[in-house]
Amino acid sequence: MASKATLEPTEAAIPVQKDPDILAAAARLAGEDMCSIADLSSAEVRAILKLGHDVKRNPREYRHALDAKQMVLMFEKASLRTRLSFETGINTMGGNAIFVDQTNSPLGERESIADIARNVERWVDVIVLRTYAHDTITEMAANSRVPVINALSDFEHPCQALADFMTIEEHFGTAAGLNFTYVGDGNNVCHSLMLTGAQLGANVTIATPRGYSPDIEIVTLARDIVQANHCELRLLQDPQAAVEGADAVYTDVCVSMGFEHESSKRAPIFRPFQVNEALMAKAAPHAVFMHCLPARRNAEVTDAVLDGPQSIVFDQAENRMHAQKALLLLLLGGLANTASFQQ
Ligand code: CP
Ligand code: NVA
Repeated sequence: MASKATLEPTEAAIPVQKDPDILAAAARLAGEDMCSIADLSSAEVRAILKLGHDVKRNPREYRHALDAKQMVLMFEKASLRTRLSFETGINTMGGNAIFVDQTNSPLGERESIADIARNVERWVDVIVLRTYAHDTITEMAANSRVPVINALSDFEHPCQALADFMTIEEHFGTAAGLNFTYVGDGNNVCHSLMLTGAQLGANVTIATPRGYSPDIEIVTLARDIVQANHCELRLLQDPQAAVEGADAVYTDVCVSMGFEHESSKRAPIFRPFQVNEALMAKAAPHAVFMHCLPARRNAEVTDAVLDGPQSIVFDQAENRMHAQKALLLLLLGGLANTASFQQ
Protein backbone atom coordinates (compact mmCIF):
# COMPACT_ATOMS: atom_id res chain seq x y z
CA MET A 1 0.00 0.00 0.00
CA ALA A 2 1.36 3.47 -0.85
CA SER A 3 2.36 5.57 2.13
CA LYS A 4 0.74 8.99 2.47
CA ALA A 5 4.00 10.66 1.48
CA THR A 6 4.12 8.86 -1.87
CA LEU A 7 0.52 9.57 -2.87
CA GLU A 8 -0.01 12.02 -5.73
CA PRO A 9 -1.65 15.26 -4.59
CA THR A 10 -5.40 14.85 -5.02
CA GLU A 11 -7.93 17.43 -6.09
CA ALA A 12 -9.19 17.47 -2.51
CA ALA A 13 -5.77 18.66 -1.34
CA ILE A 14 -6.25 21.98 -3.20
CA PRO A 15 -8.65 24.32 -1.39
CA VAL A 16 -11.42 25.37 -3.77
CA GLN A 17 -10.33 28.97 -3.28
CA LYS A 18 -7.15 28.02 -5.16
CA ASP A 19 -8.69 25.52 -7.58
CA PRO A 20 -7.57 26.60 -11.08
CA ASP A 21 -11.08 26.10 -12.53
CA ILE A 22 -12.61 28.31 -9.85
CA LEU A 23 -9.86 30.93 -10.17
CA ALA A 24 -10.41 31.05 -13.94
CA ALA A 25 -14.16 31.53 -13.41
CA ALA A 26 -13.50 34.16 -10.72
CA ALA A 27 -11.18 36.11 -13.05
CA ARG A 28 -13.67 36.08 -15.92
CA LEU A 29 -16.84 36.68 -13.89
CA ALA A 30 -15.65 39.46 -11.54
CA GLY A 31 -17.82 42.49 -12.25
CA GLU A 32 -19.96 40.65 -14.82
CA ASP A 33 -23.76 40.37 -15.00
CA MET A 34 -25.76 37.15 -14.84
CA CYS A 35 -28.92 37.85 -16.82
CA SER A 36 -29.10 34.40 -18.36
CA ILE A 37 -27.48 30.99 -17.97
CA ALA A 38 -26.23 31.71 -21.51
CA ASP A 39 -23.97 34.39 -19.96
CA LEU A 40 -21.95 31.50 -18.48
CA SER A 41 -19.76 28.89 -20.13
CA SER A 42 -20.00 25.20 -19.18
CA ALA A 43 -16.76 25.56 -17.20
CA GLU A 44 -18.19 28.56 -15.32
CA VAL A 45 -21.41 26.71 -14.44
CA ARG A 46 -19.30 23.81 -13.13
CA ALA A 47 -17.13 26.23 -11.14
CA ILE A 48 -20.15 27.96 -9.54
CA LEU A 49 -21.56 24.61 -8.46
CA LYS A 50 -18.19 23.37 -7.17
CA LEU A 51 -17.88 26.53 -5.09
CA GLY A 52 -21.53 26.19 -4.01
CA HIS A 53 -20.82 22.72 -2.58
CA ASP A 54 -17.86 24.14 -0.64
CA VAL A 55 -19.88 27.11 0.64
CA LYS A 56 -22.45 24.62 1.92
CA ARG A 57 -19.81 22.41 3.58
CA ASN A 58 -17.68 25.24 5.03
CA PRO A 59 -19.86 28.34 5.54
CA ARG A 60 -17.42 29.79 8.12
CA GLU A 61 -14.69 30.03 5.49
CA TYR A 62 -16.81 32.67 3.72
CA ARG A 63 -18.11 34.49 6.83
CA HIS A 64 -16.31 37.73 5.94
CA ALA A 65 -15.77 37.22 2.20
CA LEU A 66 -18.20 40.00 1.27
CA ASP A 67 -17.71 42.28 4.28
CA ALA A 68 -19.67 45.53 3.91
CA LYS A 69 -20.84 44.70 0.37
CA GLN A 70 -24.27 46.14 -0.36
CA MET A 71 -26.87 44.26 -2.39
CA VAL A 72 -30.17 45.73 -3.54
CA LEU A 73 -33.07 43.46 -4.48
CA MET A 74 -35.71 45.18 -6.63
CA PHE A 75 -38.66 42.82 -7.14
CA GLU A 76 -41.71 43.44 -9.35
CA LYS A 77 -43.14 40.03 -8.41
CA ALA A 78 -43.78 38.11 -5.18
CA SER A 79 -41.02 35.92 -3.70
CA LEU A 80 -40.30 33.77 -0.67
CA ARG A 81 -37.28 31.61 -1.57
CA THR A 82 -35.37 33.99 -3.84
CA ARG A 83 -35.61 36.99 -1.57
CA LEU A 84 -34.73 35.13 1.63
CA SER A 85 -31.97 33.01 0.09
CA PHE A 86 -30.26 36.10 -1.34
CA GLU A 87 -30.68 38.05 1.90
CA THR A 88 -29.46 35.24 4.17
CA GLY A 89 -26.73 34.46 1.66
CA ILE A 90 -25.13 37.90 1.66
CA ASN A 91 -25.78 38.45 5.39
CA THR A 92 -23.81 35.29 6.22
CA MET A 93 -20.82 36.56 4.21
CA GLY A 94 -20.62 39.94 5.98
CA GLY A 95 -22.64 41.92 3.45
CA ASN A 96 -26.03 43.57 3.62
CA ALA A 97 -29.26 43.36 1.64
CA ILE A 98 -31.74 46.13 0.91
CA PHE A 99 -35.13 45.01 -0.41
CA VAL A 100 -37.17 47.32 -2.62
CA ASP A 101 -40.71 46.15 -3.27
CA GLN A 102 -41.53 47.10 -6.87
CA THR A 103 -44.78 45.11 -7.05
CA ASN A 104 -46.83 48.31 -7.16
CA SER A 105 -44.25 50.37 -9.02
CA PRO A 106 -42.86 48.58 -12.08
CA LEU A 107 -39.24 49.41 -12.93
CA GLY A 108 -39.06 52.09 -15.61
CA GLU A 109 -42.39 53.68 -14.72
CA ARG A 110 -41.26 56.52 -12.38
CA GLU A 111 -37.93 57.03 -14.12
CA SER A 112 -36.04 55.29 -16.87
CA ILE A 113 -34.22 52.01 -16.16
CA ALA A 114 -30.97 53.64 -17.28
CA ASP A 115 -31.42 56.44 -14.75
CA ILE A 116 -32.21 53.94 -11.98
CA ALA A 117 -28.99 52.08 -12.84
CA ARG A 118 -26.91 55.30 -12.83
CA ASN A 119 -28.19 56.12 -9.33
CA VAL A 120 -28.15 52.69 -7.72
CA GLU A 121 -24.60 51.82 -8.86
CA ARG A 122 -23.34 54.77 -6.78
CA TRP A 123 -24.50 53.08 -3.53
CA VAL A 124 -24.48 49.33 -3.99
CA ASP A 125 -22.16 46.56 -5.20
CA VAL A 126 -24.75 44.31 -6.89
CA ILE A 127 -28.29 44.68 -8.22
CA VAL A 128 -30.66 41.69 -8.04
CA LEU A 129 -33.83 42.01 -10.13
CA ARG A 130 -37.10 40.09 -10.38
CA THR A 131 -39.13 41.40 -13.29
CA TYR A 132 -41.83 40.73 -15.84
CA ALA A 133 -39.93 41.79 -18.98
CA HIS A 134 -36.52 40.17 -19.45
CA ASP A 135 -35.44 43.38 -21.23
CA THR A 136 -35.75 45.26 -17.94
CA ILE A 137 -32.89 43.12 -16.63
CA THR A 138 -30.68 43.39 -19.71
CA GLU A 139 -31.29 47.14 -19.91
CA MET A 140 -30.32 47.58 -16.25
CA ALA A 141 -27.21 45.48 -16.91
CA ALA A 142 -26.28 47.55 -19.98
CA ASN A 143 -26.46 50.76 -17.95
CA SER A 144 -24.95 49.65 -14.65
CA ARG A 145 -21.28 49.46 -13.71
CA VAL A 146 -22.05 46.94 -10.95
CA PRO A 147 -23.18 43.35 -11.61
CA VAL A 148 -26.86 42.73 -12.29
CA ILE A 149 -28.33 39.32 -11.41
CA ASN A 150 -31.55 37.89 -12.84
CA ALA A 151 -33.66 36.66 -9.92
CA LEU A 152 -36.46 35.64 -12.36
CA SER A 153 -37.90 37.25 -15.44
CA ASP A 154 -40.66 36.01 -17.72
CA PHE A 155 -37.90 34.45 -19.85
CA GLU A 156 -35.45 32.87 -17.40
CA HIS A 157 -34.79 31.87 -13.79
CA PRO A 158 -31.05 31.15 -13.85
CA CYS A 159 -30.39 31.17 -10.08
CA GLN A 160 -33.05 28.49 -9.68
CA ALA A 161 -31.44 26.26 -12.28
CA LEU A 162 -27.98 26.60 -10.70
CA ALA A 163 -29.37 25.48 -7.33
CA ASP A 164 -31.32 22.66 -8.97
CA PHE A 165 -28.30 21.19 -10.70
CA MET A 166 -26.25 21.64 -7.53
CA THR A 167 -28.94 19.50 -5.86
CA ILE A 168 -28.69 16.92 -8.63
CA GLU A 169 -24.90 16.76 -8.21
CA GLU A 170 -25.37 16.33 -4.47
CA HIS A 171 -27.78 13.45 -5.03
CA PHE A 172 -26.19 11.67 -7.98
CA GLY A 173 -22.55 12.84 -7.82
CA THR A 174 -22.69 14.36 -11.30
CA ALA A 175 -25.20 15.69 -13.81
CA ALA A 176 -23.18 14.45 -16.79
CA GLY A 177 -25.02 11.65 -18.58
CA LEU A 178 -28.03 11.96 -16.25
CA ASN A 179 -31.51 11.72 -17.80
CA PHE A 180 -33.30 14.89 -16.75
CA THR A 181 -36.96 15.31 -17.70
CA TYR A 182 -39.02 18.47 -17.34
CA VAL A 183 -42.80 18.11 -17.70
CA GLY A 184 -45.11 21.12 -18.03
CA ASP A 185 -45.01 24.69 -19.31
CA GLY A 186 -42.07 25.73 -21.52
CA ASN A 187 -41.51 28.70 -19.21
CA ASN A 188 -38.72 30.69 -17.54
CA VAL A 189 -37.72 27.80 -15.26
CA CYS A 190 -37.80 25.34 -18.15
CA HIS A 191 -35.55 27.64 -20.21
CA SER A 192 -32.87 27.97 -17.55
CA LEU A 193 -32.98 24.24 -16.75
CA MET A 194 -32.52 23.35 -20.43
CA LEU A 195 -29.44 25.56 -20.73
CA THR A 196 -27.91 24.46 -17.43
CA GLY A 197 -28.55 20.77 -18.05
CA ALA A 198 -26.98 21.02 -21.49
CA GLN A 199 -23.96 22.87 -20.08
CA LEU A 200 -23.41 20.10 -17.54
CA GLY A 201 -23.73 17.29 -20.08
CA ALA A 202 -27.14 15.98 -18.96
CA ASN A 203 -29.58 14.40 -21.41
CA VAL A 204 -32.49 16.82 -21.24
CA THR A 205 -36.04 15.88 -22.22
CA ILE A 206 -38.82 18.45 -22.20
CA ALA A 207 -42.50 17.49 -22.46
CA THR A 208 -44.93 20.36 -22.98
CA PRO A 209 -48.45 20.60 -24.41
CA ARG A 210 -48.59 21.75 -28.02
CA GLY A 211 -48.36 25.55 -28.09
CA TYR A 212 -46.45 25.71 -24.78
CA SER A 213 -43.03 24.53 -25.93
CA PRO A 214 -39.90 26.43 -24.91
CA ASP A 215 -38.87 29.52 -26.83
CA ILE A 216 -37.06 28.83 -30.10
CA GLU A 217 -34.18 31.13 -29.12
CA ILE A 218 -33.45 28.98 -26.03
CA VAL A 219 -33.95 25.75 -27.97
CA THR A 220 -31.41 26.89 -30.56
CA LEU A 221 -28.90 27.86 -27.87
CA ALA A 222 -29.43 24.61 -26.00
CA ARG A 223 -29.01 22.56 -29.20
CA ASP A 224 -25.60 24.17 -29.79
CA ILE A 225 -24.56 23.43 -26.21
CA VAL A 226 -25.65 19.77 -26.25
CA GLN A 227 -23.75 19.26 -29.47
CA ALA A 228 -20.58 20.63 -27.89
CA ASN A 229 -21.09 18.58 -24.72
CA HIS A 230 -22.08 15.31 -26.44
CA CYS A 231 -25.41 15.01 -24.67
CA GLU A 232 -29.02 15.09 -25.92
CA LEU A 233 -31.99 17.43 -26.02
CA ARG A 234 -35.44 16.02 -26.82
CA LEU A 235 -38.62 18.08 -27.12
CA LEU A 236 -41.77 15.94 -26.78
CA GLN A 237 -45.47 16.38 -26.24
CA ASP A 238 -46.02 13.06 -24.46
CA PRO A 239 -45.26 13.17 -20.72
CA GLN A 240 -45.37 9.36 -20.40
CA ALA A 241 -42.70 8.88 -23.05
CA ALA A 242 -40.66 11.77 -21.62
CA VAL A 243 -40.33 10.32 -18.12
CA GLU A 244 -39.56 6.77 -19.29
CA GLY A 245 -36.32 5.86 -17.47
CA ALA A 246 -35.71 9.42 -16.21
CA ASP A 247 -33.33 9.93 -13.27
CA ALA A 248 -34.93 13.26 -12.35
CA VAL A 249 -38.48 14.45 -13.06
CA TYR A 250 -39.11 18.18 -12.71
CA THR A 251 -42.26 20.24 -13.01
CA ASP A 252 -43.37 23.82 -12.36
CA VAL A 253 -46.70 25.62 -12.20
CA CYS A 254 -48.59 25.82 -15.49
CA VAL A 255 -49.59 29.43 -14.71
CA SER A 256 -46.56 31.57 -14.00
CA MET A 257 -46.70 35.00 -12.38
CA GLY A 258 -48.08 37.42 -14.93
CA PHE A 259 -50.15 34.75 -16.74
CA GLU A 260 -52.96 34.46 -14.15
CA HIS A 261 -55.53 35.64 -16.72
CA GLU A 262 -54.87 32.39 -18.65
CA SER A 263 -55.59 30.09 -15.65
CA SER A 264 -58.93 28.68 -16.77
CA LYS A 265 -57.73 28.15 -20.35
CA ARG A 266 -54.55 26.40 -19.24
CA ALA A 267 -55.97 24.09 -16.53
CA PRO A 268 -57.49 21.45 -18.87
CA ILE A 269 -54.56 21.62 -21.31
CA PHE A 270 -52.03 20.83 -18.58
CA ARG A 271 -54.09 18.17 -16.75
CA PRO A 272 -52.46 15.25 -18.66
CA PHE A 273 -49.06 16.67 -17.67
CA GLN A 274 -49.65 16.33 -13.91
CA VAL A 275 -46.80 14.55 -12.11
CA ASN A 276 -48.51 11.88 -10.02
CA GLU A 277 -47.54 8.45 -8.72
CA ALA A 278 -48.51 6.75 -12.00
CA LEU A 279 -46.25 9.07 -14.00
CA MET A 280 -43.36 8.75 -11.51
CA ALA A 281 -43.67 4.95 -11.78
CA LYS A 282 -42.50 5.24 -15.41
CA ALA A 283 -39.25 6.93 -14.34
CA ALA A 284 -36.23 4.98 -13.07
CA PRO A 285 -36.88 3.40 -9.64
CA HIS A 286 -34.21 5.66 -8.11
CA ALA A 287 -35.65 8.82 -9.77
CA VAL A 288 -36.01 12.04 -7.80
CA PHE A 289 -38.87 14.50 -8.06
CA MET A 290 -38.02 18.20 -8.34
CA HIS A 291 -40.01 21.47 -8.30
CA CYS A 292 -38.82 25.06 -7.96
CA LEU A 293 -41.76 25.90 -5.64
CA PRO A 294 -44.22 27.36 -4.92
CA ALA A 295 -46.30 24.37 -6.04
CA ARG A 296 -50.01 24.36 -6.79
CA ARG A 297 -50.73 21.19 -4.84
CA ASN A 298 -52.74 18.60 -6.78
CA ALA A 299 -52.57 20.69 -9.96
CA GLU A 300 -49.17 20.16 -11.64
CA VAL A 301 -48.08 17.68 -8.91
CA THR A 302 -49.96 15.57 -6.42
CA ASP A 303 -49.41 15.70 -2.65
CA ALA A 304 -48.28 12.07 -2.77
CA VAL A 305 -45.36 12.93 -5.07
CA LEU A 306 -44.50 16.33 -3.59
CA ASP A 307 -44.43 14.94 -0.04
CA GLY A 308 -43.23 11.46 -1.03
CA PRO A 309 -39.84 9.78 -0.58
CA GLN A 310 -38.59 10.70 -4.06
CA SER A 311 -39.12 14.43 -3.55
CA ILE A 312 -36.01 16.59 -3.05
CA VAL A 313 -37.81 19.93 -3.34
CA PHE A 314 -36.65 21.33 0.01
CA ASP A 315 -33.03 20.44 -0.75
CA GLN A 316 -33.48 22.51 -3.92
CA ALA A 317 -34.87 25.38 -1.84
CA GLU A 318 -31.94 25.18 0.61
CA ASN A 319 -29.41 25.10 -2.19
CA ARG A 320 -30.74 28.36 -3.61
CA MET A 321 -28.77 30.05 -0.83
CA HIS A 322 -25.53 28.09 -1.28
CA ALA A 323 -25.46 28.39 -5.08
CA GLN A 324 -26.24 32.12 -4.94
CA LYS A 325 -23.50 32.65 -2.34
CA ALA A 326 -21.07 31.04 -4.79
CA LEU A 327 -22.34 33.25 -7.60
CA LEU A 328 -22.00 36.41 -5.46
CA LEU A 329 -18.48 35.40 -4.42
CA LEU A 330 -17.42 35.14 -8.06
CA LEU A 331 -19.19 38.27 -9.34
CA LEU A 332 -18.03 40.40 -6.38
CA GLY A 333 -14.48 39.04 -6.06
CA GLY A 334 -14.97 37.60 -2.56
CA LEU A 335 -12.65 34.58 -2.77
CA ALA A 336 -9.58 36.72 -2.08
CA ASN A 337 -11.01 37.58 1.37
CA THR A 338 -11.09 33.95 2.58
CA ALA A 339 -8.42 32.51 4.90
CA SER A 340 -7.65 29.57 2.58
CA PHE A 341 -6.98 31.93 -0.32
CA GLN A 342 -4.63 34.09 1.76
CA GLN A 343 -2.62 31.16 3.23
N1 CP B 1 -38.51 29.23 -6.58
C1 CP B 1 -38.63 30.54 -6.38
O1 CP B 1 -38.05 31.37 -7.09
O2 CP B 1 -39.41 30.86 -5.33
P1 CP B 1 -39.92 32.32 -4.98
O3 CP B 1 -40.83 32.75 -6.09
O4 CP B 1 -40.65 32.17 -3.66
O5 CP B 1 -38.75 33.24 -4.87
N1 NVA C 1 -42.55 29.80 -13.43
C1 NVA C 1 -42.85 30.35 -12.13
C2 NVA C 1 -41.69 30.19 -11.22
C3 NVA C 1 -41.86 30.73 -9.84
C4 NVA C 1 -40.67 30.55 -8.98
C5 NVA C 1 -43.22 31.82 -12.29
O1 NVA C 1 -42.57 32.52 -13.06
O2 NVA C 1 -44.16 32.26 -11.65
